[in-house]
Amino acid sequence: MTHSIIMLCIWFFLSSYMFQTSTSLDSLAVSQSIRDGETLVSAGGITKVGFFSPENSTRRYLGIWYTNYPSTVVWVANRNAPLEKNSGVLKLNKKGILELLNATNSTIWSSNISSKAVNNPIAYLLDSGNFVLKNGQQSNQENILWQSFDYPCDTLMPGMKLGWNLETGLERSLSSWKSVDDPAEGEYTLKLDLEGYPQAVIHKGPEIKIRKGPWNGQSWPGFPDPTLKISQIFVFNEKEVSYKFKLLDKSMFSIYTLTPSGTGESFYWTTETSNQQVFLTGGKDQCENYAFCGVNSICSIDNDDSTCNCITGYSPQFSEYSSISPNGCFPTIKSNCNDSHSDDFLKYKHMKLPDTSSSWFSKTMNLEDCKKLCLENCSCVAYANLDMRGGGSGCLLWFSNLVDMRKFSQWGQDLYVRVPASKLGHVAAANGNLKKKIVGITVGVTIFGLIITCVCILILKNSGAARKIYGKHYKNIQRKEDIDLPNFNLSVLAKATENFSTKNKLGEGGFGQVYKGTLRDGKELAVKRLSKKSGQGLDELKTEVVFIAKLQHRNLVKLLGCCIEGEEKLLIYEYMANQSLDYFIFGWSRYNLFYTSMTIFLILISSS
Ligand SMILES: *[C@@H]1O[C@H](CO)[C@@H](O)[C@H](O)[C@H]1NC(C)=O
Ligand SMILES: *[C@@H]1O[C@H](CO)[C@@H](O)[C@H](O)[C@H]1NC(C)=O
Ligand SMILES: *[C@@H]1O[C@H](CO)[C@@H](O)[C@H](O)[C@H]1NC(C)=O
Ligand SMILES: *[C@@H]1O[C@H](CO)[C@@H](O)[C@H](O)[C@H]1NC(C)=O
Ligand SMILES: *[C@@H]1O[C@H](CO)[C@@H](O)[C@H](O)[C@H]1NC(C)=O
Ligand SMILES: *[C@@H]1O[C@H](CO)[C@@H](O)[C@H](O)[C@H]1NC(C)=O
Repeated sequence: MTHSIIMLCIWFFLSSYMFQTSTSLDSLAVSQSIRDGETLVSAGGITKVGFFSPENSTRRYLGIWYTNYPSTVVWVANRNAPLEKNSGVLKLNKKGILELLNATNSTIWSSNISSKAVNNPIAYLLDSGNFVLKNGQQSNQENILWQSFDYPCDTLMPGMKLGWNLETGLERSLSSWKSVDDPAEGEYTLKLDLEGYPQAVIHKGPEIKIRKGPWNGQSWPGFPDPTLKISQIFVFNEKEVSYKFKLLDKSMFSIYTLTPSGTGESFYWTTETSNQQVFLTGGKDQCENYAFCGVNSICSIDNDDSTCNCITGYSPQFSEYSSISPNGCFPTIKSNCNDSHSDDFLKYKHMKLPDTSSSWFSKTMNLEDCKKLCLENCSCVAYANLDMRGGGSGCLLWFSNLVDMRKFSQWGQDLYVRVPASKLGHVAAANGNLKKKIVGITVGVTIFGLIITCVCILILKNSGAARKIYGKHYKNIQRKEDIDLPNFNLSVLAKATENFSTKNKLGEGGFGQVYKGTLRDGKELAVKRLSKKSGQGLDELKTEVVFIAKLQHRNLVKLLGCCIEGEEKLLIYEYMANQSLDYFIFGWSRYNLFYTSMTIFLILISSS
């Protein structure tokens, strides 16, 4: 009997001890508090909630951060009501409300009141960074009274939803900090706009700054960058419209932050390396800016410059203030809709679809019916699939000006734009002519190239002096106009090609090997690793790089940069998936030879 009482006492002691430790670690019970200097740590030690000051600020805020990266604050409670001194206290009251009190016990921030019955509330900090208030110790979702994930600040974390709960009207959106040292609500917000077909949009005040586009079944074009190991989930039904991402690799962390300047930044890090890496996912080029080209115009990036092109059947219209940048493009001939049934559609590939805020959609209609529907209504200007997965499904229709279109080089969707029957004839003829021209030019250039090459080989054979001239002139040229070609990091390239593994090898030539590489953001590259024994000196390599960069032409594989580290000399090119292996192996050497020959030829002409 005494034995069992002692056992009972020990059990009580142990369990209360365990309860104590757990509450002092990752949870806050009624009438417990956290003072400035104290923190709650999630069960797995991954996240913390406590008080902090931003860099260069003495103000105190209650926030959540990753234990490994205290500088990465992902959530702030009192962002608009800072504490002036280190005297803040976070308390949980009986009604199930978290209260942040200042030195004179005034509530400066509190969590929202729950509509549910409150019974023995307790707040937990989860490893995901979600600060959750629940009834008792029950773990089911129904018992959540309040959670920080429902009130995002500037950061989207894995598992956190962006968007709307249509039943309760709760909207979860990101809003930037005012500045790097002030977490108060800034100018920029990232939200899901529900008008027409939902889209992810960054606003600056009331104005749209960047439109990430409608969900295409797999992603928003370019948000966040297609990192390798996340899965993205978009839900669109009567109950909710929401987006979230999940990490597939347990050792990896990734968050998306809307910066004070309105660009999106993805941060990622792994538990293995202590380096946090950052890559930008927005505001990279002018085409990102909403409606940069005006209406009915397609923005594209060519050699780092943005270009606007009217869609077929439309011509540019200039504003009265500027003769350089048009307002956009307008129909050349107004369709009278008399013979609308003979209109047809032109297919634009790799597109970021136009603004869907006034478009009509159907989730079930197929592309054929979608086309029919568009053809039947004379104010319908374009159609596309809603979902690009598995060959495409669903239907989107546009009835007014097409706004904010962009052409990508690789990803993007097919967009079908209405063209009046009368216009279509011209287009076909023009395309035919263009094709003939291209064939003509190609044949001409090839023959010219061959001739030049032969001449140069002869010259090279006959005079060792040519090499000297070549070298001398390159130096002059380089001094005059240094080309700013990005220098890649060898370690980055090694990682991208899995240490130049043979499984990534695309081919081999006299000069060395070509590997396919994939950067962390999913971007693909072709890496030409010059063989060490090629005897090509550093200067010659630089010459080659400079000349390729200068003579770059849109029909050739784009040179993205180089890497010269110790013995290693690498050239990095754009990877083109549909190019034949031949092109990668021989293409460049042939073109390089052509360039080099061409250059020597020009130099010889100019120096004689
Ligand atoms: C903090 O101030 C120092 C010195 O004025 C400055 O160099 C640094 O960039 C500032 N840090 C931030 C985050 O503003
Ligand atoms: C606490 O907050 C109240 C209300 O905002 C304010 O009037 C008071 O001055 C604050 N006390 C301190 C010590 O900051
Ligand atoms: C604030 O509240 C605490 C505990 O309730 C109390 O001990 C303290 O005296 C109060 N401070 C002020 C300035 O009212
Ligand atoms: C919840 O709190 C937010 C601000 O933190 C406020 O705008 C909103 O109206 C509150 N909702 C309810 C139901 O109290
Ligand atoms: C439609 O076409 C007919 C003849 O083809 C023409 O008489 C009529 O004016 C046209 N209607 C419009 C609105 O252009
Ligand atoms: C064409 O579509 C628009 C927009 O949905 C609609 O208002 C209009 O009535 C339609 N016209 C016809 C002829 O169906």
